[in-house]
Amino acid sequence: MDSSYFDLVIDRSLESGSYSHKYLSMVDRYAGYDLDGVIPMWVADMDFRCPPEVIDAVRERAAHGLYGYTGSTLNNVFLKAAAGWVQRRYGWAVDPGWGVYIPGIVPAINAAIQEFTEPGDGVIIQSPVYYPFTDGTVNNGRTPRHNILKEDENGYYTMDFEGLEQLAKEPRTKLLVLCNPHNPVGRVWTREELTRLMDICLENQVLVFSDEIHADLIMSGHTHIAAGTLGEKYLHNLIAAYAPSKTFNIAGLGASAIFVPDPEIRQRLQKRIGANRLPPSNVFGPLAGEVAYRCCDSYVDTLVPYLEKNIDYVDQFIKEQLPGIKMRKPEGTYMVWIDLRGLGMTPQQANDFMIEQAKIAVDFGTWFGVGGDGFVRMNLASPFSLVEKAMGQLKSAVDSLRSEA
Ligand SMILES: Cc1ncc(COP(=O)(O)O)c(C=O)c1O
Repeated sequence: MDSSYFDLVIDRSLESGSYSHKYLSMVDRYAGYDLDGVIPMWVADMDFRCPPEVIDAVRERAAHGLYGYTGSTLNNVFLKAAAGWVQRRYGWAVDPGWGVYIPGIVPAINAAIQEFTEPGDGVIIQSPVYYPFTDGTVNNGRTPRHNILKEDENGYYTMDFEGLEQLAKEPRTKLLVLCNPHNPVGRVWTREELTRLMDICLENQVLVFSDEIHADLIMSGHTHIAAGTLGEKYLHNLIAAYAPSKTFNIAGLGASAIFVPDPEIRQRLQKRIGANRLPPSNVFGPLAGEVAYRCCDSYVDTLVPYLEKNIDYVDQFIKEQLPGIKMRKPEGTYMVWIDLRGLGMTPQQANDFMIEQAKIAVDFGTWFGVGGDGFVRMNLASPFSLVEKAMGQLKSAVDSLRSEA
């Protein structure tokens, strides 16, 4: 695969017929703003085509012309490919039989909250973090117990282990939802950090749901540590979630693999997912996911350096040209967590500034909970030309701020 594959600018607007959430839902998400000329860099999907092998498989199945209910055999084929990927890419010799198929990781988190906690129980969430963790907890009548990440003066985030221990000790704390790697702060947690977290949870009988959806998007110098590789003793206290959706840009098809080594926990999760009566599997999801996991390594191996080039560019640009704005290069994920606090605005003004002046639709930091105020998350999984354009717009916006001052 050649990196020019990712240079292609593909029309995702309403007129293109792609029905892209990132493009079309801006009208609701940013209601009240003038969206003319705004570049969508919010929702975490990519503006790139998925691997050619996946496109071919989907095309071929679509040509069959019959889309009745899909048998679970396909889900098992997908889970086998997912297990192969997990072993090949992160070194965890996971048994495909530990796999639970589900269209999305968020419904799996919800099912785990419902099954392994009671109403009013505490769920530990390390904010600022992907907001469905908190939503899932609150919507199910459980209590989010926020263990806020610690940020140092260089924008580097670490876990607050003392806080974690205290929360885990509370008798009603039953579950921790871990974001590994972490969206939005971009940390790729180290083996030491993860082991410490797993120890605290094991000692206090707090089950760990490790959401590893961003596991393939790891920048140079860092390594994804699958929670399942931390040691045998933790396996009975772990639910580990993977999906090809971010890596291969097939989130709209829906296919995720949840590996649960403990048979009792697995059966309970499976039963709960069944009881929630999710729609039957969309044939294209597991089909595309299986192909991606089986034979598209080279796509990821070309994609990640491309993403890193975008990230390096934005990092350099901010340092050299955007006084008042800071960012620390993420260790993983294709999102950057941009600190606007130096612009001397309220969080609301900073949000408005990004949409109205810079004309970039970003995820507002506030959405990620405690610790998110004054930040925005920008998705850089776009052709370089679009990233360049966005940075030009941001520069003009910052320049006019300074000329007004
Ligand atoms: C950490 C994390 N988990 C889960 C998801 C989405 O999962 P799914 O679409 O499989 O429900 C995202 C999407 O941005 C994410 O960042």
